[in-house]
Order: sequence, then C-alpha cells, then structure tokens
Amino acid sequence: MKIGILGAGNMGGTLGRLWAEAGHDILFGVRDPHSAKARRLSDAAGFEPRFGSFAAAAAHGETVLAAVPWEATEGVLRQAGDLSGKVLIDCTNPILPDLSGLAIGHTTSAAEEIARWAPHAHVVKCFNTVGAGALSDARYGDHSASVFVCSDHPLAKETASQLAESLGFEPIDAGPLIEARYIEPLALLWIHLAIRGKFGSKIAVKLLRR
Ligand SMILES: NC(=O)c1ccc[n+]([C@@H]2O[C@H](COP(=O)([O-])OP(=O)(O)OC[C@H]3O[C@@H](n4cnc5c(N)ncnc54)[C@H](OP(=O)(O)O)[C@@H]3O)[C@@H](O)[C@H]2O)c1
Repeated sequence: MKIGILGAGNMGGTLGRLWAEAGHDILFGVRDPHSAKARRLSDAAGFEPRFGSFAAAAAHGETVLAAVPWEATEGVLRQAGDLSGKVLIDCTNPILPDLSGLAIGHTTSAAEEIARWAPHAHVVKCFNTVGAGALSDARYGDHSASVFVCSDHPLAKETASQLAESLGFEPIDAGPLIEARYIEPLALLWIHLAIRGKFGSKIAVKLLRR
C-alpha cells in the first residue's frame, strides 16, 4: 500500500519504518529532511526513508497518517492539501505542552477537528494509546496490546485495523469517530501512568473479554 506519513518523529518514523519493512511504499512528509528526528530515522540500520513535502506525502498515499504534535496539525493538514477520498489515520493526542491535560475534549476531539480540517478525507482514529516505544513489539506474554479504532468510514476502519494487526496489535472497533472523545483521554492516562506513575513507556492497554 502507498502510505504518506505526515511527520517523521517517534510515531510517524517508527510506524513508517515498520510498515516499510512489511512491504508498504512509504513517503514521509516533513518540514525539514535534515532535522534531528529525520536524521535519526535515516540512521536506522537497513532503512532508507524517502522524504518530501507534506503535500508530496499526501499525494503519494492512498492512506495518510497524521503524526505531528497537536498544535501543528491544522497547519500541516493545510499544507498537505487535498485528501479527498483518502484514508487519514489520526494518531495525534490534543495534549497540552506541559502534559497536564487535554487542549480539547468532552464536546469534540482531535479526530473530529481533523475531520473538519480535511472534510473529504476518511478519518480514522488509531494508535494514539500506544507508546512509540512499544510499536515494534505488541506482544505482552500471552496477550497482544489493544488499539482502539473509531471512524465513520468502514473502509478507513478496516485499513487502520489491518495495519495495526500486521504489527501484532489487536484492533478494537470502538464505533464512530465521536468515540475519539473518550479514546483521547485514555492516552493522557497512559502518559500519566508512564511518566508520573513511573510505569515506563513500554506499558500498553488491553481489552479483556469473556
Ligand atoms: N510519542 C508517543 O509515544 C505517542 C504515542 C501516541 C500518540 N502520539 C501522538 O503522535 C503525534 C506525534 O508524536 P511524536 O511523539 O511522533 O512527535 P515527535 O517525535 O516530536 O515528531 C513530531 C513530527 O512532527 C514534526 N513537527 C513538529 N512541529 C511541527 C510543525 N510546527 N510543523 C510541521 N511539522 C512539525 C516534527 O518535525 P521536526 O523533526 O522538523 O521537528 C516531527 O517530524 C502527537 O500528536 C502525539 O501526541 C505520540
């Protein structure tokens, strides 16, 4: 699959590298291909990332991943241009810079705002509750870590779920995009447990059923 990735940091860089290793055709959209984060990605053993503008990455991908800080997301999507008909995976979290809370919530979510900024894209929330450091190994003993997937577009849900499953995660269909209002706060809990609770960045969320 052709995937354009907006951002080449912890999330975009790691997911892009893992998907490239799985055979997908990846183009990273970045503001500066020589930034420290982009260089770190280029230095990863056995990986030769391709970089372009946000618009080039968006044009390249039948699926596009938004993986930039929340405060940069609207501007980056504007630079990305027309995303009509494309699956737009949103892994962002609208977290305040000091990690103390969410910049938006309750009555909207990052995912719903992104759907407003990219009105003809098929937005799907996914991967926002997984730490970048855990992306390359979704196994926890007998369990696969869960990722919550919500969207108003069935094909977008299917695409994100398959991409998550291909990395070993268990995708959980959480319903329509509005459910992002409840999935995004879960990411903040994850952050507080990982950092303040000292559980560390390899923790993951699992939905148990019987
Ligand atoms: N890190 C995690 O474990 C994690 C987990 C789940 C979700 N998330 C969410 O995923 C998103 C990305 O997080 P991350 O940890 O990957 O961030 P990151 O490592 O800081 O990478 C951010 C990327 O966005 C670019 N960027 C930053 N500010 C920009 C701006 N103003 N205009 C254009 N590009 C800009 C950076 O480019 P430069 O290299 O040029 O700075 C970099 O490529 C965030 O919304 C975050 O909340 C993160």
